[in-house]
Amino acid sequence: MIVTANEETIAQAARILRRGGLVAFPTETVYGLGADATNGQAVARIFEAKGRPRFNPLIAHVADLAAARDLADFGDAALALATKFWPGPLTLVLPLRPGARTRISELVTAGLDTLAVRVPAHPIARRLLAAAGVPIAAPSANISGRVSPTSARHVEEDLGPAVDMILDGGPAQTGLESTILALSPVPALLRPGGQPREEIEALLGFRLQDYRETGVRAPGQLASHYAPRATLRLNAKSAGPGELLLGFGPRAPEGALNLSRSGELREAAANLFAYLRALDAQGPAQIAVMPIPEAGLGEAINDRLRRASAPR
Ligand code: TXA
Ligand code: MG
Repeated sequence: MIVTANEETIAQAARILRRGGLVAFPTETVYGLGADATNGQAVARIFEAKGRPRFNPLIAHVADLAAARDLADFGDAALALATKFWPGPLTLVLPLRPGARTRISELVTAGLDTLAVRVPAHPIARRLLAAAGVPIAAPSANISGRVSPTSARHVEEDLGPAVDMILDGGPAQTGLESTILALSPVPALLRPGGQPREEIEALLGFRLQDYRETGVRAPGQLASHYAPRATLRLNAKSAGPGELLLGFGPRAPEGALNLSRSGELREAAANLFAYLRALDAQGPAQIAVMPIPEAGLGEAINDRLRRASAPR
């Protein structure tokens, strides 16, 4: 059931969470499917609703840095990153504190000795976290492997009655999931996302390695993900027979859906998942996507497109 987020529905959503229910809520990145991270049965319902493999751990969302430090060990680099980029689209993978091991459900960490934590910036997510008073485990609120939701309607389409309440806070502004950064045992970029790599590297003072170069575990980074029903063809100039075009920039044909006519990556990121869903709903065999530059948010956009086009 979709409800407009306000004082009353947020309080109601917090009660649902504390009783072990599932609440979908807006974050600045994408909509999340939330459960009380300390309640194993509630977290199990997330995996059932999404059809998500159990080896794939979840992000714990917390209200502020103090709450995050209750759960995970922050070194100097993590502290500097959190201070600069939180609240916002950055997830830190850090050693789970011994004291938190008994509090956080093992399903959240998938048995790893690390925890992914983030403080979301969206005001509704923040009010929900404050009202619930518990860390909220939340993956993106879509069927596992499919396109992430950037509106309450997307959540309803994918998960419908499996969710006890969908808090509607309008379209997600960033439109791409958070950047995931591991700091232990060595710094590694697990997933490019809404917080561009360049700004993180500027703060850290060194270039971030991809997790593939480091051996850091990234159980969720499956080759095929974010996939619409149609197959995808990347770096297309135009649409061929049986294809619909997803355009980018001023050179795209007039009639095509365009991620950003002016070529702005921020606008393209915000539109990406909704446009993929809209084109897919027309039932084409294939979606042809024009090239997107690899810098800034472009890295995360291209990561999602590559995985949406990977063999399934
Ligand atoms: O923007 C976001 O991050 C959204 C919103 C709702 O916050 N959430 C999200 O969650 O994208 P999800 O579950 O779709 O993606 C989280 C990723 C998964 O690929 C998972 O494998 C990874 O984070 N992850 C979680 N805990 C981890 C850990 N301890 N070590 C390595 N990867 C982890
Ligand atoms: Mg996801």
